[in-house]
Amino acid sequence: MYNLLKGKKGIIFGALDSKSIAWKVAERAHEEGAKFVLTNAPVAMRLGSITELAEKTGSEIIPADATSIMDLEDLVDGAMKILGGKIDFVLHSIGMSVNVRRGNHYTLQDYNFTKTGFDVSALSFHRVMSVLYKKDAMNEWGSIVALSYMAAQRVFPDYNDMADNKAYLESVARSFGYFFGRDKKVRVNTISQSPTPTTAGSGVKGFDGFIAYAEKMSPLGNATALECADYTISLFSDLTKKVTLQNLFHDGGFSNMGVSTAIMEGFMNSYEPTKEDVIEESKKSDKK
Ligand code: NAI
Repeated sequence: MYNLLKGKKGIIFGALDSKSIAWKVAERAHEEGAKFVLTNAPVAMRLGSITELAEKTGSEIIPADATSIMDLEDLVDGAMKILGGKIDFVLHSIGMSVNVRRGNHYTLQDYNFTKTGFDVSALSFHRVMSVLYKKDAMNEWGSIVALSYMAAQRVFPDYNDMADNKAYLESVARSFGYFFGRDKKVRVNTISQSPTPTTAGSGVKGFDGFIAYAEKMSPLGNATALECADYTISLFSDLTKKVTLQNLFHDGGFSNMGVSTAIMEGFMNSYEPTKEDVIEESKKSDKK
């Protein structure tokens, strides 16, 4: 360990269980010498095992629903009181789509569900920053990170309305990041992470195929939750002070690939042209 976060104070949203990316970030932040408050939605306190993480890392928990300004204000006030001053780092690791949960197709959304998912997964990031900004709760050269996915830029049909939520999330990192940088010298970035087997990740239809495909496509293979935590720690540390307004891909190279030999071989092994395909191809070459 490198003591990268020695003396730093933070708030970590979204640790549900030991698979959660936020869980790994909390463990790594603790190892690197940080003190932090853990938070999650009140319902997640019952479903998950956050108290175990709190004991392990010597942290306190303040429940907060990220859709409630009042909860967030209490959280930020409470965290500053517990930690004895302003905050150096914040992790937003929150995502949930009701349409995905209920199996609604992207083209046939229930818009009340869409609104709820947007509120939880996307608008919450603006809300968190707005409360931190208004309360002047961040130290200079502090760092705010949210987690995103590449469906914000490219089509992944089963990612559903979360794709649109992530696009908004990344945009807010830039727009709010400008004001946070200009006025408070705080940086704001999103990390666009590989598919990862967590509760939120596994909820996406066809996740097993999704993750296996990304693994075969990426020259370095998929990034794990722990590797994502390592990257996040670097963004919280003083080694990345001038990195801001970025969406940073942490995906083993997936986002810059067209096709890999492994994917191509798999495709050709299972590809048997039909009689119609052969006729169609020969017509095309006749025309040339
Ligand atoms: P997770 O299911 O462990 O974490 C999601 C968290 O959001 C949970 O702790 C949940 O309690 C919290 N949450 C839901 N509603 C909330 C609310 N109203 N207020 C406060 N918290 C609330 O799953 P994971 O994968 O660790 O997700 C963390 C982030 O990483 C999410 O933003 C997700 O979209 C993102 N991500 C995940 C990937 C994956 O394949 N697992 C890939 C790329 C990004």
